[in-house]
Amino acid sequence: NIKPIQVKLVLLGEAAVGKSSLVLRFVNNDFQENKEPTIGAAFLTQKCRMEDKVLKFEIWDTAGQERFHSLAPMYYRNAQAAVVVYDVTKAASLDKAKSWVKELQRQASPNIVIALAGNKIDLVQPVDEGEEESANSGRQVPTEEAKAYANEFGLLFFETSAKKGVGVREVFTEIAKKIPLE
Ligand code: GTP
Ligand code: MG
Repeated sequence: NIKPIQVKLVLLGEAAVGKSSLVLRFVNNDFQENKEPTIGAAFLTQKCRMEDKVLKFEIWDTAGQERFHSLAPMYYRNAQAAVVVYDVTKAASLDKAKSWVKELQRQASPNIVIALAGNKIDLVQPVDEGEEESANSGRQVPTEEAKAYANEFGLLFFETSAKKGVGVREVFTEIAKKIPLE
């Protein structure tokens, strides 16, 4: 009854978009300003209590640096969920995210739940109402553009800030809702 459902989840995305930071926020509710790049991959687990079930996420946080690309299939093989991350201040990182989605939809398990997360929104959102428009000048990926892409490809879509803890829990709980009870 209370035995957790194990869910293998993989994070993919360009280097420095904030994959490890999203995991650190989700697992430890913490943030590091100068997080070191991941080498190979890191493994962490986190339980997630839902109304009707308990999930245990087994999280593979992969390295975004290109030299590690060939390792990725080991981590997304048999994964039930994937979080593909880009940086809203870096348009090229969305292109990279799209190529990961394409690879997952070709090579990963056919019923994998994929979430697209545009991270670092703290860099483009005014902290309070009165703040100047110039606070938004760093955005390179409009929300609507990424959302339209996500809809077209059947992905969950989120904008997040690992730094401020915005939208991070939602990524994992919305994935959890889509994982079938076994
Ligand atoms: P690789 O392991 O090399 O693939 O990078 P990564 O995607 O794991 O990125 P990481 O979490 O290491 O973050 C890279 C840098 O971005 C670090 O200096 C983080 O502090 C910073 N960072 C991560 N998330 C955010 C965020 O939401 N907002 C801001 N402002 N900075 C962030
Ligand atoms: Mg990392």
